[in-house]
Amino acid sequence: MTSPILSVRDLKIDFDTPDGTVHAVKGTSFDVAPGECLGIVGESGSGKSQSALAAMGLIADNGTVTGSINFQGTEMVGAKAKTLRKIRGAQMSMIFQDPLTSLTHI
Ligand SMILES: Nc1ncnc2c1ncn2[C@@H]1O[C@H](COP(=O)(O)OP(=O)(O)OP(=O)(O)O)[C@@H](O)[C@H]1O
Ligand SMILES: [Mg+2]
Repeated sequence: MTSPILSVRDLKIDFDTPDGTVHAVKGTSFDVAPGECLGIVGESGSGKSQSALAAMGLIADNGTVTGSINFQGTEMVGAKAKTLRKIRGAQMSMIFQDPLTSLTHI
């Protein structure tokens, strides 16, 4: 079997807010094979966008990401800014759901 291009394992994303912790993603795992197109379906607020943003290293400053997002052998969770910059745009990109508001923390 071909190795996955993207391998997500037990991904959890929590956000600290004045009202307490928001558990946005509670432990998701999936693989994407080369050439494969994967659709993720879920109700609004179930963590689809945050999962994709975590893969790009673009989670807001009040967020904590744990688990593993392996992209072609590079671990994206906790990766250095330099590593993320090399991959973003060149090898991984995204079409933002709401470009005006999704990255206000950058
Ligand atoms: N910076 C943040 N601080 C606190 N909570 C946040 C933050 N960013 C996202 N969330 C919360 O994370 C959860 C998951 O949001 P996400 O945008 O990933 O949902 P979604 O599945 O993409 O929804 P939709 O189908 O509406 O696009 C939501 O409860 C959202 O309010
Ligand atoms: Mg979304």
